Amino acid sequence: MNCFPENFLWGVACASYQCEGAWDEDGKGRSIWDDFCHDPYAEHIRNGDTGDIACDCYHRFRDDVALMKTLGLKAYRFSVSWPRIIPDGDGAVNEAGLHYYDELVDELLANDIEPLMTLYHWDLPSALQDKGGWLNREIIPAFGRYAEILAEHFKGRVKYFMTINEPQCVTVLGYGIGIHAPGLKLSDEKLAQIYHIFALSHSEAQRRIKAVAGADVQVGIVPCGRLCYPSMNTPENKEAAYRASFNLAKDRWGFTFNIILDSLIFRRYDDSAPDAVRRFAATIPPSEWEQMETPDFIGVNVYSGDEVDCKGDFVRRPAGFPLTANKWFVTPEVMHYGPLNLYRRYGLPLFITENGQSCNDRIFLDGKVHDPERIDFLHRYLRELHKATEDGTPILGYMQWSFLDNFEWSEGYNERFGIVYVDYSTLQRIPKDSAFFYRNIIASNGAVLFE
Ligand code: BGC
Repeated sequence: MNCFPENFLWGVACASYQCEGAWDEDGKGRSIWDDFCHDPYAEHIRNGDTGDIACDCYHRFRDDVALMKTLGLKAYRFSVSWPRIIPDGDGAVNEAGLHYYDELVDELLANDIEPLMTLYHWDLPSALQDKGGWLNREIIPAFGRYAEILAEHFKGRVKYFMTINEPQCVTVLGYGIGIHAPGLKLSDEKLAQIYHIFALSHSEAQRRIKAVAGADVQVGIVPCGRLCYPSMNTPENKEAAYRASFNLAKDRWGFTFNIILDSLIFRRYDDSAPDAVRRFAATIPPSEWEQMETPDFIGVNVYSGDEVDCKGDFVRRPAGFPLTANKWFVTPEVMHYGPLNLYRRYGLPLFITENGQSCNDRIFLDGKVHDPERIDFLHRYLRELHKATEDGTPILGYMQWSFLDNFEWSEGYNERFGIVYVDYSTLQRIPKDSAFFYRNIIASNGAVLFE
């Protein structure tokens, strides 16, 4: 029977700023996304949307967890809002903030849903940004302290911690081209420094989590970047796709997995690094490389990949190539070769921490939300993921992005990624057809994908 590994964790994912709302309740401090959305001088977000209310999960989490239960979900990957826990990032702890996550975690556990906790999914306390954010090395101990507070508080309840979500997106979109908070446009040298600070911050957090929670917990990081798949199933072409995935060439180094993972795991940069990275790397003392911590697992967010031919060139998409609503290419093969190549390079177990697509969903006349494209997407991508497991890639679980439609950063509420529809005028939740399809996948541990 074509099934996924035993105890495979089938889940969904979301992030604090994208779904919680309650942006200024119960002592929460401001985050850079609050500031970015409320910027009086510029409209950074489509339609002027904000995460002030979002899906209101802060108040509705019990109903949401009940719905997760009816769908048979086994895991929920959520993120903690740093300014809810420590309003100024580095000072007093806000007990009300901890209390919210206490209740959420307890509710999940009571329903046999494994909580997967991400510590940083982009909502940095504004007070830390005022001091330079991820460009100021003072953030390393501040992040470590925040991680330790959470590990101490949740030990025995949370087994999987993920330190940082997609440092590449923060760096490139937030500090490089400025379309995400904090909206800066810095040089490549500065971006290289930020990557190094992220790597040191992950390492500091991992050490401190392990020191208080010990062997009971697994600590990972969730990087992102370019993942390639071969045009043809030949050894040469597969090798070319592997090399293209981890190439730090000048025009693409910032959006690669290895810009972070090589630091953490190999304690160096790849030979393909461009001049800006090499210049910065020359200033890193050996004692800093020694501080790097290899994660217990890698979280991978898989959306769209690049096809590479046997010469290593990117293949141009033909007219009419399948697209999602936000115009990302639908490339299921990346779910096979992406994890495979990450495992080949790093030899660590993987979680698929995000995967899904945006659709132009709406409520049909029958009152339901029919989303055949998302069903087809999940079907195709999960069949490819199964190939990766058959090839021996250790995949611990799969988190669909996302449970609810939510705030899609600079695109606001324009993009709907959920398997559950949110009517933003009433905040009512309506499971889409894909939610029931996913329920059947989970119940059969993947067997229905092959019927
Ligand atoms: C991010 C999510 C985002 C999703 C879809 C990932 O890059 O981690 O926060 O909503 O992609 O764009």
